[in-house]
Amino acid sequence: MMYSRIVGTGSYLPEKILTNHDLESMVDTSDEWIRTRTGIEERRIAADNQMASDLALNASREAMEAAGVGAADIDLVIVATTTPDVIFPSTACILQNKLGIRDCPAFDVQAVCSGFVYALATADMFIRDGKCRTALVVGTEVYSRILDWTDRSTCVLFGDGAGAVVLTQSDQSGILSSHLHADGDYSKILAVPGSVCGGKVQGRPFVVMEGNTVFKFAVKVLEEVVHEALTENNLRVSDIDWLIPHQANIRIILSTAKKLGIPMEKVVVTLERQGNTSAASIPLALDAAVRDGRIKSGQHVLLEGVGGGFTWGSVLIRW
Ligand code: UT7
Repeated sequence: MMYSRIVGTGSYLPEKILTNHDLESMVDTSDEWIRTRTGIEERRIAADNQMASDLALNASREAMEAAGVGAADIDLVIVATTTPDVIFPSTACILQNKLGIRDCPAFDVQAVCSGFVYALATADMFIRDGKCRTALVVGTEVYSRILDWTDRSTCVLFGDGAGAVVLTQSDQSGILSSHLHADGDYSKILAVPGSVCGGKVQGRPFVVMEGNTVFKFAVKVLEEVVHEALTENNLRVSDIDWLIPHQANIRIILSTAKKLGIPMEKVVVTLERQGNTSAASIPLALDAAVRDGRIKSGQHVLLEGVGGGFTWGSVLIRW
């Protein structure tokens, strides 16, 4: 049996920190409201000259170093992002060039906050199918560029960052299963509805969200995908060693864990210091838990994402 296996992880957060207290002077909000309603304390903001590919470059270098692979070893690049450098070429092609990787498929995946789960599931299929041996999979976002900084209901929630993994072919276990879902009926509850036409922006080029509807939907599907992954692999909830959910709101994470009966000690949470980094949130949390030694060989790690589209899904890994 051929698996794909994560052999290196990396992450990058821009230097600039924007605290809840900083936001108090920008919009009618309070540190108390943001902390109690979301769990977020601060987030990172990319410098004006930093694009999604720059954040991705730093995270990728770290993941490649951890994996002990060089540019010549990578034969697939997939970037999950909602905030690409430009309309085209893809951020994956720009990253491929910056890393000096030659002649391999490189493309972006756009599934908003589920993007990393979608990208990892796609890379896993390429590897198990024998189409490539070593993939670089990245989630990278500069949401600060698509936020209306006068809208308190959205601007306090998001942050910038990137996380990356290197995935290789292995006969030892690795990714056990992935499940991807989407329902375009819910496309309007979370969107950036603007577009560019004839050199002008048409519609609103900022995040718009029906927070409550998104909240309820997220809790519902995040519970469902865990049961789906466990059923497929004949496992029980107690077999999950680490749950790595998309980091949007601590209340969503707490509700999901409670409904599933998973103790919070087994849930990786990074959103206090990063906010919601969309496609970057899962690989950032994964990297944190790998680097501090929480995740150990042989353990079951379940990644789960949910976001605009609406999209949702999971990847179950035996580490
Ligand atoms: O990545 C996936 C996508 N995103 C998510 O998963 C986010 C999902 N949704 C949420 O996390 C929550 O719905 C929010 C954090 C966005 C909002 O929390 P909520 O508990 O659903 O609050 P609410 O929208 O019901 O608003 C409650 C009150 C309102 O005031 P009134 O109408 O009760 O007077 C809002 O105007 O809080 C007000 N409010 C704020 N107050 C201070 C909204 N934003 C803020 C703010 N500071 N930043």
